[in-house]
Amino acid sequence: MTSAGRYDTVAIALHWSIALLILLAFALGLTVDDFPKAWEARVVNFHALIGVAILVLSIIRLFWRVGHPAPELPVSVAPLARTAAKLGHAGLYVLMIVVPAIGIPTLLFRGRGLDFGFFQIASPFARTREIFHPLTEAHEIASYALIALAVAHTLAALYHQYIRHDDILARMAPRHGGD
Ligand code: HEM
Ligand code: HEM
Repeated sequence: MTSAGRYDTVAIALHWSIALLILLAFALGLTVDDFPKAWEARVVNFHALIGVAILVLSIIRLFWRVGHPAPELPVSVAPLARTAAKLGHAGLYVLMIVVPAIGIPTLLFRGRGLDFGFFQIASPFARTREIFHPLTEAHEIASYALIALAVAHTLAALYHQYIRHDDILARMAPRHGGD
């Protein structure tokens, strides 16, 4: 396949690093209450740092995407599937921004700051249950929507790879062997 039919290296690197970070953030978010109490602050902080990285990388990725359109899909992809892919990808981009964006006030209204190791940001807010409770709920629901859409997206990629055999996965696969 020629490089014209693939995403560029920056898009591919961002796709896979963000996907990995989302899985990690989701796993940590779900299990944060299962760690020993003494670790809680550190686990939440680690979760939040990964989330902030997702937010920053996703914004960079969106800007990159505006200047670097997706490669043309093969003609074998039906119009309905093209529309579904477009809507699905747009939904993923929105949720990749919205989930961490809700996470930030969720953290701050718990009275927690962010510890980057070499510098800290304190929360400007007092711990306010009436605010952080609904925010946590919204953050959780949005993160479930993100994961559900990512699972559907993965199933679509696998369907193309193993049932349609149309090389869609290769468009986003890391380069190998100097092609
Ligand atoms: C794509 C990125 C993210 C995903 C998938 C994600 C996912 C989750 C999930 C599933 C929970 C558990 C919710 C619950 O059970 O009530 C959670 C909790 C939380 N998240 Fe995130 N999150 C992300 C980004 C962020 C960011 C950027 C921040 C803050 C800067 C953040 C702060 C929090 C906080 C404070 C909690 C509550 C933890 C606790 O129970 O003490 N998250 N997140
Ligand atoms: C949290 C996980 C994931 C997220 C958030 C995500 C997000 C995205 C987004 C937003 C796009 C559209 C790229 C663009 O046009 O700018 C995309 C494309 C793509 N993704 Fe993912 N992805 C994830 C996981 C996966 C996995 C696990 C696979 C493979 C098994 C995969 C395979 C692909 C492929 C093949 C494309 C290109 C589709 C096309 O050519 O139209 N993704 N992904």
